[in-house]
This record gives sequence, C-alpha cells and structure tokens, in this order.
Amino acid sequence: MEMGNFPEFAFHLLEALSLIFAGLLALLIVAIIYMYIVDINQTEQTIRRNYPVIGRLRYKFEHLGEFFRQYFFAQDREELPFNRAQRSWVYRAAKNVDSTIAFGSTRSLDKPGDLLFLNDPFPTLEEEAKEASHVTIGPYADKPFITNSIYNLSGMSFGALSVPAVTALATGAKKAGIWMNTGEGGLSSYHLQSGCDIVFQIGTAKYGVRDNNSQLCDEKLRGVAAHEQVRMFEIKMSQGAKPGKGGILPGEKVNDEIAAIRGIPVGEDSISPNGHPDIRNIDDLLDMIARIRNVTGKPVGFKAVIGTSAWLEELCEKIHTRGIECAPDFITVDSADGGTGAAPQSLMDYMGTPLKRSLPKVINILISYNLKDRIKVICSGKMVNPSDVAAALCMGADFVVSARGFMFALGCIQALQCNKNTCPTGITTHNPKLQKGLIPSNKAERVANFVKNMRKEVGIIAHSCGVVEPRKLNRSHAELINERGIPMPMSDVYPLPQIKPEYRVESHRSPE
Ligand SMILES: Cc1cc2nc3c(=O)[nH]c(=O)nc-3n(C[C@H](O)[C@H](O)[C@H](O)COP(=O)(O)O)c2cc1C
Repeated sequence: MEMGNFPEFAFHLLEALSLIFAGLLALLIVAIIYMYIVDINQTEQTIRRNYPVIGRLRYKFEHLGEFFRQYFFAQDREELPFNRAQRSWVYRAAKNVDSTIAFGSTRSLDKPGDLLFLNDPFPTLEEEAKEASHVTIGPYADKPFITNSIYNLSGMSFGALSVPAVTALATGAKKAGIWMNTGEGGLSSYHLQSGCDIVFQIGTAKYGVRDNNSQLCDEKLRGVAAHEQVRMFEIKMSQGAKPGKGGILPGEKVNDEIAAIRGIPVGEDSISPNGHPDIRNIDDLLDMIARIRNVTGKPVGFKAVIGTSAWLEELCEKIHTRGIECAPDFITVDSADGGTGAAPQSLMDYMGTPLKRSLPKVINILISYNLKDRIKVICSGKMVNPSDVAAALCMGADFVVSARGFMFALGCIQALQCNKNTCPTGITTHNPKLQKGLIPSNKAERVANFVKNMRKEVGIIAHSCGVVEPRKLNRSHAELINERGIPMPMSDVYPLPQIKPEYRVESHRSPE
C-alpha cells in the first residue's frame, strides 16, 4: 500500500465503519421496538409487561447469578450442595496435585453436629501402617465378593450419565480397584469394557432384567450374572434424593442406545414406578433377595434411604426366623441429601433422614439383632472428602460409596443441570458437542487418582488416631460438637447397644 493513498483509504474505512455502525444501530432500535411491542402485548410474564424490554434483563441476570455467585461471591464453605472447600479437595486429589493447605483452617470448629477426630499421643508410624483389610460380602452366596476397597462408585445410570462419563468411570474404577454400581439403567458395554468390578442395580422398573411385561426375568438375570465382573446385585428400594419416587430420565436423553438397553421407546420420558410392585412387605423383600441370590449365585442386598425405621426391626426378626443365610448380604444406606439426575424438589428437600441420623440407627439395630457381621453396611451421601469417609467408618460402616464425588473427579462444576441434557462438562448430557471436552482416558486417570488420594488421606486420619488401618476406626475415635459448641464423645451421643439376649447365639447354618 502506498503511503500517499493512506488518508483516502482511511477515509473509506471510516465511511464503511460508520455505515456498519448506523446499520447495527438501526437494527438494534428495530429489535428494541419489536421487543417492546411483544412485551407489552404478552400476558405470560408480569415483569416484562410492566417493564418492557428492560424487564427481560431480570431473567438473564437470575440465570447468570448462579454462576457469578459461585465464582465471585460465595465463601469457601457456604455453597450447597457442595461448597468450594469440599469440591477443591476432590479436584486437587483427582489431578494428583498438592492437597495441603496453608495458614489455618477456615472450618469453624464449634458448629453443632460437626465432628472432630481424636488423635492418639502415639500415632501409627508409617512402617506399622497397613492397607484396609478384606471383607467378605455374601458368605452364603455361591460366589461371595471379597474386597478391601473402602471407597466405591455409587449407582448412576447409563442414561443419566453420558457414554464418555460411564467409560471414564469404569476405566478409572478398574485402575483404582474399586466397584462401580450401574444405577438403575441396566448394564452397557461401556460398564463392561474396562473389566472393573460391577454391582448391578435392579430398580423399580427392572431395566436390563425385565421381560416384555416389565416383570423380573430370571433368564436375563442369569445373563447379567454370567459376566464374571458382575459381583453383586443391589435392589433399589429408594434413593436419598427422592424416596418414594422412581427414576426419571427426560425423553430428550432417551436415545436409541439407552432405549435398547432399558427396553423402552426412544424419546419418551423413562419413568420407573415409585416402588417395586412385587415387593410390598418384608417377606416379599426377603423372598426377592433369596430369588436373585439363587438365580445369580452372587451376593444380594438393597439400597434405601431411612425414614420410618420399625420395619428394620421387623426385617431382623424375620431374618432370625428364616435363618441368617436368608439375610440381605448388604444394606446401602443413602442419605436424604443424596444426589440425583432429576427429582421433585419437595422430596429432595424434605423427605427421608440424613446419614448422621440413619447410619447409627441402622448399625445399632443390626448390632442389637446380632446381624452386623452378617449384613455389611454401605453408606452414601456427600461422602466426598476423607473426613466424611473416616467418620462413617468410625460409626461402623463397612464401605462408603459416592456418586457426586466421582462426578467432581470427572470435572463436574456443579452447574445443577443434570436433568436438562445441557451439562456443560459432558457428564450428564448426550449432546456430542458438550461431550467433546470429556476425554475418557484423561478423566479415568483422575478417577483413579481421586480414589488413591482418598485412601491415602483416610489412612492419614486413621494413623493419627493411632490405629493401623481405616477399618479399625470406631466410635471412640471421634467427638461430635453439641449445641453449646462443645465436642462430646461419639460413643456417648450414639452408644453401642447390647445384643438382645434372644439373639446372642447366631441362628445360622454354616456355609458349606
Ligand atoms: C446423576 C445421578 C444419577 C443417579 N442415579 C442413580 C440411580 O440410577 N440409582 C440410584 O440408586 N441412585 C442414583 N443416584 C444417587 C447416588 O447413587 C447416591 O445415592 C447419592 O447421590 C448420594 O451420594 P453422593 O452424595 O456421593 O452423590 C444418582 C445420583 C446422581 C447425581
């Protein structure tokens, strides 16, 4: 370009820019007039009718506020369901970066209900420390499941989760040596391909193991059990986030593959019954457990959030009447504040009891009926940091499982959109554009790191309490802060019960 032409060129450029600007301005004015006319004539939204055009900003800001609060305004320990401190630990653990913090704790140490561990003057030395011990689940099943993995993957269905998410979780589970629960959406090739241990969940719709009349099908059960890596079966009685409501998978998420695995029409909402039509009382439950165990040869338990609890005593009594071999091999106690892909707010906010109430209750009932050894207790509900897991072990849980902890390990940012097919991190959406950022091989590594660091730090707590491995933690190792801000021994707040005299002798036939 010649220098002499420059002013003329600049003049043309300026002229073109002003034309574009004038055009855009005209377009904007037309758009504003259009919106104004639409807003004052519409009858759906009061704010837009009363404050045309400008009223629209309210809806935009309300939506954006969710994100701004998280990044700029919320304190480290104030967000729900998970605060930044909880999430950051998972992100760091998953990325395997330094998880130490500096200066001092930002956790208030006098909040009623919170827990403190009791350190021993002579902590376990590194050379004395041991791995968590092995536990046998289902000693009366043909193929009991023996594992030492204290922290495992809770049920999330394929459907609620995307293909890359299930693939990453299954691969990470294999690397970490933990089990993965399928959730109620059936078993897919993505669960199987890594070879990880699997717990097959049977939801109220019996997806994956139902016949044409939606009834449980023994042949299909056998088919699932034929996979060596399917180690156990879990009957889902209820789920913390929505007790008394079945699974809800919005139609937009029901694609060809999911429809085929579940045995339902493509594009239609997948809504499972709010309870098992064939399990209406304790006898039905025990019959169902026996049936699935006989057909599959593998341990069988059930998952429930605890509301009323008298039925648990009835269950224990019936187990003794039938003989303890007929007991469920495990009970998964889910907290009322558990997560879900989709649930009605009234159930999510108000139904069921949280784990701090239900876990000691279930464990104490099992102890008083001398069934605690026979029935393993798995628990779930916001157990995403080592302190949560160690606290559950202190209370007497045998295993802890988590769903959302693993979602964070996959990169979940708590956008609260699992029910919309718009998950920005590709975890709970079937939109390929949004899945593109979730690279299974990379995230599988993060899942494995998360478990590795979880185990390491639960171990650190156990060793500080003076025991050689996490399973040796008990109620004497923790205190709970009371309403006056004073820590009280966990064993005083939740005393261990005596075994009822009539059940002191176990009512079982020895396994062959
Ligand atoms: C996206 C999503 C899907 C879920 N799907 C199931 C399911 O199919 N079956 C089930 O029993 N629980 C399901 N859950 C509940 C979890 O398994 C778990 O019980 C609950 O979220 C508590 O654990 P957490 O606090 O670690 O997430 C789901 C949870 C989430 C977040």
